[in-house]
Amino acid sequence: MNGYRQAHGQSISDPEEFWGQATKGLDWSRPPSRVLDRSREPFFRWFPDGELNTCHNALDRHVDSGAGDRTALIYDSPVTGTVRTYTYRQLRDEVARFAGALKNLGVQRGDRVVVYLPMVPEALIAMLACARLGAVHSVVFGGFAAHELAVRIDDAKPTVVVSASCGIEAGRVLPYKPLLDAAIEESAHKPRHCVILQRPQCTAELVSGRDLDWAEAIAGAEPAACVPVAATDPLYILYTSGTTGRPKGVVRDNGGHAVALHWSMGNIFDTRPGEVFWAASDVGWVVGHSYIVYAPLLAGATTVLYEGKPVGTPDAGAFWRVVSQHRVTTLFTAPTAFRAIKKEDPSGTLIASYDLSSLRHLFLAGERLDPETYAWAGERLEVPVLDNWWQTETGWPIAANPRGLEPLPTKPGSPSVPVPGYDVRVVDSAGNDVPPGTDGSIVIRLPLPPGCLPTLWGDDDRFVASYLSAFPGNYLTGDGGRFDEDGYLYVMGRTDDVINVAGHRLSTGAMEEVLAAHPAVAECAVIGVADTLKGQVPRGFVVLKAGVEADPATLTAELVAMVRQRIGAVAALRQVDVVPALPKTRSGKILRRTMRGIADGRDEPVPSTIDDPAVLDTLRPVLIRSTP
Ligand code: COA
Ligand code: AMP
Repeated sequence: MNGYRQAHGQSISDPEEFWGQATKGLDWSRPPSRVLDRSREPFFRWFPDGELNTCHNALDRHVDSGAGDRTALIYDSPVTGTVRTYTYRQLRDEVARFAGALKNLGVQRGDRVVVYLPMVPEALIAMLACARLGAVHSVVFGGFAAHELAVRIDDAKPTVVVSASCGIEAGRVLPYKPLLDAAIEESAHKPRHCVILQRPQCTAELVSGRDLDWAEAIAGAEPAACVPVAATDPLYILYTSGTTGRPKGVVRDNGGHAVALHWSMGNIFDTRPGEVFWAASDVGWVVGHSYIVYAPLLAGATTVLYEGKPVGTPDAGAFWRVVSQHRVTTLFTAPTAFRAIKKEDPSGTLIASYDLSSLRHLFLAGERLDPETYAWAGERLEVPVLDNWWQTETGWPIAANPRGLEPLPTKPGSPSVPVPGYDVRVVDSAGNDVPPGTDGSIVIRLPLPPGCLPTLWGDDDRFVASYLSAFPGNYLTGDGGRFDEDGYLYVMGRTDDVINVAGHRLSTGAMEEVLAAHPAVAECAVIGVADTLKGQVPRGFVVLKAGVEADPATLTAELVAMVRQRIGAVAALRQVDVVPALPKTRSGKILRRTMRGIADGRDEPVPSTIDDPAVLDTLRPVLIRSTP
């Protein structure tokens, strides 16, 4: 482990030297003379006087160095029967033109642009066009409903929203425009313009004076040049679920992000310029931002944008078809995708129909990698299966197997070791390090490495309160786990009310807010329970107001529909039980962790702080009733 240990040691003892070296792989309009500004602790800033443009580094830099004809992007869309490729030169030109269109609509450096698009090349083009202008994009995942979009529009206050007439999910055409219109109706902030990509599957009605067809917007636009920005300027805001209904606007800066992602491609993902990297995720999530859009392009690799599912588009061989057709070297997805494939094709017979000789690695992240899925994937694909652990907040892996730096042995159940730059600790409730083998809270000693969030959008206080106040001097990850004697980390799950459904991060608090708004509901709890396909699924429990008579089946259907309508289909809440009471501590806190333990079939001790043990006894049979 010498190469890894040496790099990790240096990154912690001398981060200035370590990350200063890493800046050299990129173009800077003004190279940073200082690497780390510690003067406003705990608000650390990387490369404080550096100036660069992220889009230049992702596109123009490669064209300028003679790689303009190399493939930058492969769009593979089984749901529309399309495969389209873009060279670096073509993609640069499309991005420059769309940046010109945004400029014509008044978008300037620092302005926000909300992007609400399905998995089409225009999503990536819109993001890079914002980066080109020094504008700040905020992509909202298509599975979120109008209200969630409205909340994000009100927080980011975009000048322009870029969207499409529809997405295509499981063979259904899902119109996006009515959701966008409803969101703008609900939001207090009104964007000046909306640019709408009209897809052939469905035409959206445009609001005169506000909305423009994408084709019309680019028709007369001059290509825009890259605007140099401060390394510390925001590149994007990505909203993620916290423990309340109010999402957190994770901010990503330009300089630290480019340096960290560029470093990660060679050192963690072992991917070189010209190789084909496929992150089968969605641009609405952090994995999509980092490893569909920015990192592969910063590295000069070819990225695959896949508008489809692991199963059903058309079958459980879809991933193998894409790998063989495009000669993918590195596949990155969430374990749930593999569980979906395994469910349909348990012995992996479809794999034999395709030539997978190009594939060197499988990286999995986004949720805990269960040892069974790890073993199944490794045996069937005969490539190393590499778990990596990270969060929207960090933007790139905290713990991983650094394949390019030094391939380490893998251990089932562990994402391997802390990545250089991250000083990971496991602590007890008093903040003291616990010995190997003992569970605790996983924290990261400050400063976080480049690429991690410098703050939350417009809310430094919430940033400190959410992440830095529990263990001063450390960032609270919200995950629990332990180290083993060899320094391998085991991440066991969230210690808060965030849940992970099919690799999608969701807040049980947000769902509780929706259930509590029903006129019949006095109080409620939503917990995440184990699910063999999605990892976790939410389950709701409601107590009715005194004197209210409601048919449980009708009420449940109403509550499920409300969550779908308010948060979106992605919330996947399907089961709500009406119960006489919820178990609480004497101070009135609902015992969600105890409920979760019982629902997951664990022998959960009854907490000594419980107010009325009889309530838990009554609930026990409901909790252990399996999810349909
Ligand atoms: N736009 C609109 N709706 C969307 C959507 C989008 N971009 N993405 C998902 N939805 C909808 C789905 O259609 C589904 O709706 P339904 O309840 O009407 O069927 C609902 O949201 C739940 O979607 P999902 O959680 O994806 O479940 P699924 O049963 O459709 O598919 C998997 C399950 C495992 C196949 C799927 O989650 C998957 O491919 N996961 C891969 C992992 C991944 O991408 N993780 C992201 C982070 S790395
Ligand atoms: P997100 O912000 O959507 O990327 O979700 C981050 C959360 O997903 C983390 O805090 C973890 O709880 C979980 N997670 C992500 N990757 C892993 C992993 N490899 N192992 C265990 N949990 C993971």
